[in-house]
Amino acid sequence: MLTTPIRLLDSAMISRNVRRLRFVRSDGGSFAYRPGEFVSLHLPDDSGEIYKRSYSIATVADNPAAAETLELVASHVENGKATRWFWQAQPGAEIAFSGPHGLLVWPEVLPKRLILIATGTGVAPYRAMLKQMQPHLTQGMQVHLLFGVRDQAEAFYLDDFRAQAQAFPSFQFSLCVSRAAATAPDEYAGRVTDRLQQLNPQADTDLVYLCGNPAMVDEVFERLKAVGFGVKTVKREKYIFSRA
Ligand SMILES: Cc1cc2nc3c(=O)[nH]c(=O)nc-3n(C[C@H](O)[C@H](O)[C@H](O)COP(=O)(O)OP(=O)(O)OC[C@H]3O[C@@H](n4cnc5c(N)ncnc54)[C@H](O)[C@@H]3O)c2cc1C
Ligand SMILES: NC(=O)c1ccc[n+]([C@@H]2O[C@H](COP(=O)([O-])OP(=O)(O)OC[C@H]3O[C@@H](n4cnc5c(N)ncnc54)[C@H](OP(=O)(O)O)[C@@H]3O)[C@@H](O)[C@H]2O)c1
Repeated sequence: MLTTPIRLLDSAMISRNVRRLRFVRSDGGSFAYRPGEFVSLHLPDDSGEIYKRSYSIATVADNPAAAETLELVASHVENGKATRWFWQAQPGAEIAFSGPHGLLVWPEVLPKRLILIATGTGVAPYRAMLKQMQPHLTQGMQVHLLFGVRDQAEAFYLDDFRAQAQAFPSFQFSLCVSRAAATAPDEYAGRVTDRLQQLNPQADTDLVYLCGNPAMVDEVFERLKAVGFGVKTVKREKYIFSRA
């Protein structure tokens, strides 16, 4: 399999349970991706064996065909193998990736309204799309981003989403806090599922993207199917755990 060696540039906690990791290519080259895609990281375990884990690309780049850094966000998973590597790795650590892969990319045929739904780090692919969507927002396309977390301390990239909403009136952002009270005008106390209901999704005009917790993806898809949506009007990416 074709892999590309990368080096950890820096790493920082950006919420209570999420770490941001930025990589550069070890050979000094750039990254080519379509916003919304993910990479497969090839990581060493304690005995040096290589195992793979998938992570969405969160990089916002002026030119995603030649981005300088690869930005990823990882949730802390108890006893997780990759989690341990991410939490211990120091700048300069070398690993490799393959890809990018994935179908959760900007639509070729634009809907009237695009509803982007995420829980936790599932918001990463939508952050990567922020620049790409701007010309469409200028032309009046409606984009609504629902970001589900337990409470405000779990949220991240809020400045990016709020700046987009401020600059483009047809971009709307809702932070859905499932275990806390709302404390800002764009916050909603409840799950993304509850907030979606308020938006009154319509299968003939809306396209919905779902990303993150597999239970959320399945539940929202079932609810959308009940009001006429199907595989052509809902795109899904589940953050399922690996078997190895
Ligand atoms: C397409 C895709 C994109 C993804 N993107 C991201 C991303 O951007 N950010 C992110 O944080 N994560 C993402 N994930 C999830 C990520 O790939 C890892 O699964 C996650 O980081 C956990 O890896 P780990 O090695 O730390 O944990 P692991 O070592 O794999 O597992 C940790 C714990 O979970 C338990 N476990 C394993 N499998 C199951 C199971 N089926 N049910 C219940 N418990 C189980 C294990 O026993 C262990 O205790 C993505 C997954 C996919 C498929
Ligand atoms: N089986 C799996 O493969 C599996 C299962 C779970 C998580 N994960 C992954 O593990 C990593 C860590 O996850 P995390 O703990 O940081 O956050 P997370 O599970 O991605 O997100 C937590 C948020 O999702 C909400 N949620 C859970 N189930 C839902 C549903 N059915 N419908 C709507 N909302 C729902 C929670 O609401 P409440 O507070 O109301 O619960 C909470 O607000 C992530 O990558 C996640 O996707 C994998």
